[in-house]
Amino acid sequence: MNGRIKIAIAGAGFMGETHAQAYQNIANAELAYVVDANTEKCGAFAERYGCIPLNALEDMLETGIDVVDICLPTMLHKDAAVGAFKAGKHVICEKPVALDYDEGLEIDKAAKTYGKKFMVAHVVRFWPEFAELSRMIRQGEFAGIKTMSFSRYGAPPGWSEGGWIINDERSGGIIFDLVIHDIDFVLSVLGVPQWVFARKNKTADFTTYVNALLGYPDVNVLIEGGFIMAKQYPFTTGFRVSNGETTAEYINKSKKGLILYDSSGERKPDYRDCDPYQKELEYFLDCVKNDREVLIGSGSSAADAVKVAGLIRESADRQEKLSLI
Ligand SMILES: NC(=O)c1ccc[n+]([C@@H]2O[C@H](COP(=O)([O-])OP(=O)(O)OC[C@H]3O[C@@H](n4cnc5c(N)ncnc54)[C@H](O)[C@@H]3O)[C@@H](O)[C@H]2O)c1
Repeated sequence: MNGRIKIAIAGAGFMGETHAQAYQNIANAELAYVVDANTEKCGAFAERYGCIPLNALEDMLETGIDVVDICLPTMLHKDAAVGAFKAGKHVICEKPVALDYDEGLEIDKAAKTYGKKFMVAHVVRFWPEFAELSRMIRQGEFAGIKTMSFSRYGAPPGWSEGGWIINDERSGGIIFDLVIHDIDFVLSVLGVPQWVFARKNKTADFTTYVNALLGYPDVNVLIEGGFIMAKQYPFTTGFRVSNGETTAEYINKSKKGLILYDSSGERKPDYRDCDPYQKELEYFLDCVKNDREVLIGSGSSAADAVKVAGLIRESADRQEKLSLI
């Protein structure tokens, strides 16, 4: 593929905006169209980013774009993605890929059937501190890990169109929308767990908090988080990982980045800071341009994360430890 890659963003909301900003810094990306059912929002977005506004997904498929970037509410991902593949477009889709494992697999299968690139935008894989932790584990620099704990907390988000994110039925709730970032990351370094055991807090139609133990033979893994914090509480995420001799810690709001504690004291490993959204989009466009396999955020790995999220929800509902294998 020569020249700039023509892109249409589907969904001019919070994530559509985040991706549009990132494309502005990617030389071979041309944001050509934006699609949103909300005409006013779509027009204002198009003006901000110098692209053409469209109101229906079908109209976008008839344009000469190469890539559809799906930033729509999760329940719309499958139809939008499969429609795009059928029209011969490559797709990057926001996480979670779907609200159901089979649906996730269906999207991945459609990509393969139509021979198109497909990536799920699990941005945490590109988050500098998480990416460095993953590299250290993969390259054997951080072996024998005994414990890993991940957390992700905020106040209930106010931005989502019609409040769809704070409705379990529409978004899958915090397990599928928030905590899935950490589920996907853990799966990317440790594989699928043998079992899960979870607890949660819930209001009438929205789960506000969850904690989940993920069962691996040699590592104790805890993932917790929710939209249960006071409005004034800043979004807080991070991890602690230890093998007894080395402990890695990252807390976003400390502004210290990834810190390693070991016999030499406290130090910051040598990794590059970056905009993870830009990095993930660059990665996908590189796969498209150079016909490379999407290895980070593949459809099947995203479907696995949804499968584990589903089991965590069920475990919390039944208050039972549930096996995956
Ligand atoms: N990677 C991350 O860090 C992250 C953060 C937040 C959300 N997300 C994910 O991104 C996706 C979008 O979430 P958001 O927060 O941007 O939501 P949002 O509500 O801010 O934006 C969604 C947009 O889709 C539009 N829309 C709804 N139905 C439509 C239709 N039928 N046709 C065209 N447009 C339609 C809405 O008008 C809205 O502008 C979700 O899957 C969510 O889980 C990812």
